[in-house]
Amino acid sequence: MLETIDLSKEYKIGVNILKVLRGINLTVNKGEVLGIVGPSGAGKSTLLHLLGGLDDPTRGRVVLEGKDISKLNNRQKAQLRNRHFGFVFQFYHLLAEFTAIENVMLPAILKNTESRDKIKEKAFDLLKKCGLSERLHHRPSELSGGEQQRVAISRALINMPKILFCDEPTGNLDTETGLHIKDLLWQLNKEYNMTLIVVTHANELVKDATRIMYLQDGVMLN
Ligand SMILES: Nc1ncnc2c1ncn2[C@@H]1O[C@H](COP(=O)(O)OP(=O)(O)OP(=O)(O)O)[C@@H](O)[C@H]1O
Ligand SMILES: [Mg+2]
Repeated sequence: MLETIDLSKEYKIGVNILKVLRGINLTVNKGEVLGIVGPSGAGKSTLLHLLGGLDDPTRGRVVLEGKDISKLNNRQKAQLRNRHFGFVFQFYHLLAEFTAIENVMLPAILKNTESRDKIKEKAFDLLKKCGLSERLHHRPSELSGGEQQRVAISRALINMPKILFCDEPTGNLDTETGLHIKDLLWQLNKEYNMTLIVVTHANELVKDATRIMYLQDGVMLN
């Protein structure tokens, strides 16, 4: 469903060019959990940002269901992300001034196809599923790390994305909380056949993924 062709990313640092990704060819299948593992600085986040349309490649293409997403303008890309992609990051990226349920509602409010009541009901159901029915009106600063990540996951799910992109989703959590988050992600994959792309430097997190790929020196190894 998602494919990259000769995907390359370079950064210009003064007169030097840093080649982070050197021609990545990758196919992501619907319903799989793809683990992408590599050391710090290997380009994992860069790759995930390109796959998710958060950044543009220097060369090559990202193709979603036959369509080249690099050709979309910024507004079209934002709409694609809002409707079809969900993102979970290491540092949650919740909006500090909003409560848990408001953070979860936001992508659906932006999508603007359902009533506020319906959106609130869906946000509540997701937070409940993530074990947070008692934390609806807490702000991020009043939540633990694991709770914040569960809010972030609920927010990523409110528009039922085709693909959930996870960048070190447990990187900032203790082992036990990290395992809970992992179980939750895997459960979503099973229940909704949701495609997961999980980037991490820790093999452990993705050891039972459908497939694991290794990113090293800008190329992908199986
Ligand atoms: N905007 C930028 N400008 C210049 N160089 C960048 C930029 N973003 C990333 N880099 C460089 O690209 C390389 C890959 O960065 P990236 O964040 O993708 O690595 P990563 O594999 O996610 O690492 P980590 O495991 O530490 O998160 C790094 O060497 C980084 O310094
Ligand atoms: Mg990273």
